[in-house]
Amino acid sequence: MRVVVLRLGHRPERDKRITTHVGLVARAFGAEEMLLTGRDPSVEESLEDVRERWGGGFRLTADVSWRGEALRWKEAGGKVVHLTMYGSKLAEVIDDIRSCEALMVVVGAEKVPAEMYDLADWNVAVGSQPHSEVAALSVFLDRLFRGEELERDFPGGLKIVPSARGKRVIVPEDRLEK
Ligand SMILES: C[S@@+](CC[C@H](N)C(=O)[O-])C[C@H]1O[C@@H](n2cnc3c(N)ncnc32)[C@H](O)[C@@H]1O
Repeated sequence: MRVVVLRLGHRPERDKRITTHVGLVARAFGAEEMLLTGRDPSVEESLEDVRERWGGGFRLTADVSWRGEALRWKEAGGKVVHLTMYGSKLAEVIDDIRSCEALMVVVGAEKVPAEMYDLADWNVAVGSQPHSEVAALSVFLDRLFRGEELERDFPGGLKIVPSARGKRVIVPEDRLEK
């Protein structure tokens, strides 16, 4: 399944770190792209730096119109899920969501426009308590991919050798200093 994450309402003055974390989670948990409303060079640089060092093909597209992207996505046959604590219970809809081929996952920052709730094919709650877009996105993607996303390879980057203690990292040959 093709998954993109739409980060709605990023406020550069206060959301830099959390939006960067939304992007890191999107990448590490199986999404191929994050769409960001607005621009923020520090978020863009941080995610580009991680992609460059750790591999894979994750992309960030900034300064998008959320409405335009969601409408285009749906017109092309994709589905949209909006994560909100007011939504349907995750466990009751996740099987249905898993059956689609292209999924846009929307997470907010500040108050999400009412239109988003109507535009979404599913409004989904990851528990009906307020928490965080980072937590909501991680739990959602992990349930969507049933944990298999954690086994994915990220070609071209540093590779960690899982170890009970210490840090073991394999550096690709073309990055070794001659
Ligand atoms: C810190 S919350 C702000 C919510 C905002 N006050 C509102 O009314 O939409 C930021 C984002 O985290 C996500 N989020 C927080 N708690 C959630 C939950 N229990 N289930 C699903 N998503 C949640 C939503 O995407 C939300 O837009």
